[in-house]
Amino acid sequence: MRAWRVHEFGEPVAVLRLEEIDSPEPGPGQVQIRVACAALNFGDGLMCRGLYPLRPEFPFSPGLEVCGEVERVGDGVSLAIGQRVIAVPDLPHGGLAEACIANAANVYAIPDSLGDVEGAGFLIPYQTGHVALHRRAQIRSGETLLVHAGAGGVGSAAIQLGVAAGAEVIATAGGAEKCEVCLKLGARLAIDYRTEDFSTAVREATDGRGADVIYDPVGGDVFDRSTKCVAWEGRILVVGFAGGQIPTLSTLDLLLESFSVVGVYMGEYSRRERPTLDAVHAELLALHGKGTIRPLVGREISMEEVPLAIRDLGNRRTIGKIIIRIGDGPRI
Ligand SMILES: NC(=O)c1ccc[n+]([C@@H]2O[C@H](COP(=O)([O-])OP(=O)(O)OC[C@H]3O[C@@H](n4cnc5c(N)ncnc54)[C@H](OP(=O)(O)O)[C@@H]3O)[C@@H](O)[C@H]2O)c1
Repeated sequence: MRAWRVHEFGEPVAVLRLEEIDSPEPGPGQVQIRVACAALNFGDGLMCRGLYPLRPEFPFSPGLEVCGEVERVGDGVSLAIGQRVIAVPDLPHGGLAEACIANAANVYAIPDSLGDVEGAGFLIPYQTGHVALHRRAQIRSGETLLVHAGAGGVGSAAIQLGVAAGAEVIATAGGAEKCEVCLKLGARLAIDYRTEDFSTAVREATDGRGADVIYDPVGGDVFDRSTKCVAWEGRILVVGFAGGQIPTLSTLDLLLESFSVVGVYMGEYSRRERPTLDAVHAELLALHGKGTIRPLVGREISMEEVPLAIRDLGNRRTIGKIIIRIGDGPRI
């Protein structure tokens, strides 16, 4: 089979090699998935550079998110051969390959109403958004939700889930085109945070109150300025650090404004709380079935285009999810 593999850490375009290798074998509790489509995540670039929290053994295939069919199962797995699934693969056998390995705990059956292209970009953005907004921030209908990097992978899903929860959504994004995307997704206001101070704009748009919930996949200055526009008793969700800086926080600000900073790490949720995620998955499929949420597929690419696409993702040049057609490509 063909697989992108990394043998040493470095820039993705330099260290990714497209190789012909044997298919990996599923061990106990694992499945082998024939990948129809995979989605890129910001973490793929970090992983190539050795900056991701997980550092798999060499050589490894990146790829954190796939849609495909169960081809083989290890001992103790009840999934049927041929079942269409979405999954977070188990490294080093990630999803940028014609076949990947996943622990059954990270595999979710899907109906044919969720096609292979959309399916590949469904699991991480929506599970992260749902757990963050509902479980961690306890968002309520009528609250104001501020979503940073709203035209990105996780941001675009958070806007849709916020609207579905009855929130008034404000988004930030880098540039006019991305702001337009946020408005189309249901945000009532989109702020180009590269040219405008979003903190002031959010205060103005909320009659000085600020945002009740802030979804932050960017970190750095964006986090710092979020603390200046969070509402009394608001919640700032720490989702990621795409900006490259991990911010620190004055607990005096927390005290004076009575707001909370709430972490979300889906890797750990899937290990600890599969029953919770089963319920979340069922709810997300129902929302997709009703057309309330729909993965924002910015680009579909071939296997060969992966390294340059990972570079674009790290350079703010992508919108929504980048989906890779793998092997025979999408069937549904
Ligand atoms: N906590 C979790 O469990 C979890 C789950 C999934 C993802 N994440 C994290 O969430 C973040 C977003 O992931 P994603 O895959 O959905 O990526 P993405 O949002 O599609 O892409 C990252 C976006 O961040 C914005 N950005 C701001 N400053 C940036 C900078 N200096 N360099 C690059 N991008 C910058 C850009 O949007 P603008 O141009 O609009 O600013 C860019 O498009 C990542 O940090 C990822 O690790 C965390």
